[in-house]
Amino acid sequence: MAINLTVNGRSSTVDAPGDTPLLWVIRDVLNLHGTKYGCGIGQCGACTVHLNGQPVRSCLTPLSKAASAHITTIEGLSPNGSHPLQIAWRDIDVPQCGYCQAGQIMSAAALLVEHPRPTDQEIDTAMNGNLCRCGTYLRIREAIHKAAAMHASNGSEKGGL
Ligand code: FES
Ligand code: FES
Repeated sequence: MAINLTVNGRSSTVDAPGDTPLLWVIRDVLNLHGTKYGCGIGQCGACTVHLNGQPVRSCLTPLSKAASAHITTIEGLSPNGSHPLQIAWRDIDVPQCGYCQAGQIMSAAALLVEHPRPTDQEIDTAMNGNLCRCGTYLRIREAIHKAAAMHASNGSEKGGL
């Protein structure tokens, strides 16, 4: 079954069953390997991407649901790693093994669109489903605050992240 989808601004036609997990398509068909497979059952957040701007677990999202949708993966968050979250992540040296971090950043990016200056509680609520077995949670929270401050000092509008 041929399904059209737009990933990181590029249109693709994927010939696969409609119940194929979007994660398989992203990694194995489109060869975008930044999005990770962790649990496969929606429990870890490693596979988080944006579907029409909303964070979703791509391991649980059927390809049919992505038809005609706009999908953003970590590779499409910015053209050159210049998203405020990516800068803050580097500045604070957030990752340890790194495996969970693409999913963490994608969840954080969706959070900052909704809450450009999130409180600790808003961060903890939004990031609750993204697990990090290296325990980088405090650095993640610090980096989200730093990215939000960076964005605010740039004078950007809500939704510009
Ligand atoms: S791999 Fe999708 S939530 Fe864990
Ligand atoms: S940095 Fe290792 S799992 Fe999060």
